[in-house]
Amino acid sequence: MTEAILLVGGKGTRLRPLTVHTPKPMVPAAGVPFLTHQLARARAAGVEHIVLATSYLAEVFEPCFGDGSALGLHLEYVTEEEPLGTGGALRNVASRLHSGPDDPVLVFNGDILTGLDIRALIGTHESTGADVSLHLTKVPDPRAYGLVPTDATGRVQAFLEKPQTAEEIVTDQINAGAYVFRRSVIDAIPAGRPVSVERETFPGLLAAGAHLQGMVDSTYWLDLGTPAAFVRGSADLVLGRAPSPAVPGRRGDRLVLPTATVAPDAKLTGGTVVGEGAYVAPGARVSGSAILPGAVIEPDAVITDSLVGTRARVGERSVLTGTVVGDGAIVGADNELREGARVWCDAHIPPAALRFSSDQ
Ligand code: GDD
Ligand code: MG
Repeated sequence: MTEAILLVGGKGTRLRPLTVHTPKPMVPAAGVPFLTHQLARARAAGVEHIVLATSYLAEVFEPCFGDGSALGLHLEYVTEEEPLGTGGALRNVASRLHSGPDDPVLVFNGDILTGLDIRALIGTHESTGADVSLHLTKVPDPRAYGLVPTDATGRVQAFLEKPQTAEEIVTDQINAGAYVFRRSVIDAIPAGRPVSVERETFPGLLAAGAHLQGMVDSTYWLDLGTPAAFVRGSADLVLGRAPSPAVPGRRGDRLVLPTATVAPDAKLTGGTVVGEGAYVAPGARVSGSAILPGAVIEPDAVITDSLVGTRARVGERSVLTGTVVGDGAIVGADNELREGARVWCDAHIPPAALRFSSDQ
């Protein structure tokens, strides 16, 4: 039975303020902490033992998932005193693995929403005899990712993390953040210091002649590292475009959790989720958005492609597009917030304080 390591220790800086109180993998997507979807997908692929490599806000994972038995998993948690980077994190949990030296070990970045066929990646690893096998996907703009050119057989030729110059952009194939490692490769990562698997381990392995195998797969794929991506991912889960066995309800235009209250004439569309204890008032229109637990949307507010944090409040007639409202923040009535706006946790925006257009 293949075991897995989940890398969940990053600071989630690009998602702030969503990650001020909550580590990125624990921000709710489609009504449950995002990590639930990844854990459930791994379980569905036959994985039973998963080690979570934690660092930033490490203490919130275990109270939520415990020993994993509710998901049919055996979960363990290992916390880094100081962040060890993606490679250092793998080495730091190696002692918890049960696999033999040549056995395959799955590794997942903790912020990826994907329909990857996990069993097919293990199959590729076994049939090619690779040291490490990588899920690759194609994106229009690869600059924010690890570029992974391969030869005609899929063998990896180079690994270029977040290229800085135009000459380095040699492919649109990127590292999709799911790997199969031969266990002995994890044991060989230096212990006790930060190591980046992308900047040190993969280039070092290639220089030493190791076999890294790419598997290009064009299934649904999204890195939820930015607010816009996170909101999109949550909506795609609700709509059923992104696969997960852990969405708490039927797929469709909206998902209202059992303890939420939505006025009969409020309109919820585009994969909107309304979390536990949240309230959406009459006349409000919410599309493609995530309303987190305990948040309040007042009458006639119009919210599109946005996230409203835990116990935050959006005032009457306010119009939010592509906006993140941090936990506990209050957006007063008659505001207009646009693309990229981030209201910090517990901030108060007075009524009619911000507009992007005339009030006529
Ligand atoms: N335990 C631990 N310790 N985990 C960490 C640490 C650390 O010091 N640093 C990062 N992580 C975790 C993050 O929580 C995340 O789940 C994963 O490692 C990747 O970190 P990100 O910060 O999300 O990296 P990225 O999105 O910029 O780039 C990575 O993912 C891309 C695909 O989405 C790289 O792997 C790229 O090569 C890849 O293309
Ligand atoms: Mg990421």
